[in-house]
Amino acid sequence: MIKKYSSKISGLGKYLPENKVTNDHLSTLMDTSHDWIVERTGIEERRFIAKDSTEGTASMGVKAAQQAIDRAGISKDDIDLIVFATLSPDYYFPGSGVLVQDLMGIGTCPALDVRNQCSGFIYALSVANQYICTGTYKNVLVIGSEHHSGGLDLTTRGRTVSVIFGDGAGAAVVSRHENPEEGVLSTHLHSEGKHAKELSLIGPSTKKWVHEVFENYDPNDPDYHPYMNGQLVFKNAVVRFSEVIGEALTKNNLKPSDIDMLIPHQANLRIAQFVQKKFGLQDDQVYNNIMRYGNTTAASIPIATCEAWEEGKINSGDHVMLAAFGSGFTWGSSLIKWV
Ligand code: ACO
Repeated sequence: MIKKYSSKISGLGKYLPENKVTNDHLSTLMDTSHDWIVERTGIEERRFIAKDSTEGTASMGVKAAQQAIDRAGISKDDIDLIVFATLSPDYYFPGSGVLVQDLMGIGTCPALDVRNQCSGFIYALSVANQYICTGTYKNVLVIGSEHHSGGLDLTTRGRTVSVIFGDGAGAAVVSRHENPEEGVLSTHLHSEGKHAKELSLIGPSTKKWVHEVFENYDPNDPDYHPYMNGQLVFKNAVVRFSEVIGEALTKNNLKPSDIDMLIPHQANLRIAQFVQKKFGLQDDQVYNNIMRYGNTTAASIPIATCEAWEEGKINSGDHVMLAAFGSGFTWGSSLIKWV
């Protein structure tokens, strides 16, 4: 890439549905317990869109996006590109990016959907960074939003997966920055498709088409609910998180102690603690909020980054490391010198 500019995060926003779902509430729906969930995942509660609400993936994204745009001090008309990351789009097609564009009344800029699950925000940020660094665009709206609750199997059969996930949205305005020593210093992306089915939702899809759902729908068919090989995901996550954080440090000639704030994708508190220990980071060098929101997949990094910034834990000049691992398998990192 011929780099003409740098890119920086100029505004952050988040939106969490008001409806809190505690572990005790889940225990009334399935055979689980508050203690099991906290011990294995660190999650105490999560948000689910209320059953009687019309809220969805795109509309949550709009709320986070509007806050990010306001904080960036720009107008929606200044947005040159929308990049929308989700595994739970409103529709099979079109993508949720164009729905955001319509809901926000943003003219005819391009809108792109990214389907990289827990790594979605890092992939989306890398797209924004590339377009800005080449001088193509000035302001890119990057959104991560997930509506998990509508698709989870909230019975004992689905408990290994369904206790983990929550709904929510986060957004960032990524803008042109003149100083190449600041802003997004690097992004590193990886995937390994041989594990595609180990964390997946198979139907409905072109392999398991919609008429099958109506004509032969079998509520016991596991393909209609997310599947996760939890232990394999866990084992790969701790390895890949560590590799990709190390890759970013090496590329930028930095040591773990140079990280002012690590914001890992909020997959499981145990994974984040493993990574923290591996790099010898102190508690104030890592931001976690999975306790309150569960795993919000593509939304987790922008929500956590927004919250850390709101709490004054990210400041100008800080080295902020974002890292993610998830379905695909996909993983990635981005090192940002905060402006
Ligand atoms: N409540 C109570 N018991 C449960 C629950 C539950 N919610 N879920 C499973 N169990 C039981 C199992 O049935 C099993 O019982 P058994 O020993 O009698 O057979 C026992 O608990 C242990 O089950 P495991 O699946 O071995 O539990 P594990 O310790 O592996 O924890 C977990 C499961 C939390 C899912 C873990 O594997 C994990 O966190 N994996 C990583 C998940 C992750 O990070 N995903 C991120 C990516 S998400 C994305 O990209 C979309």
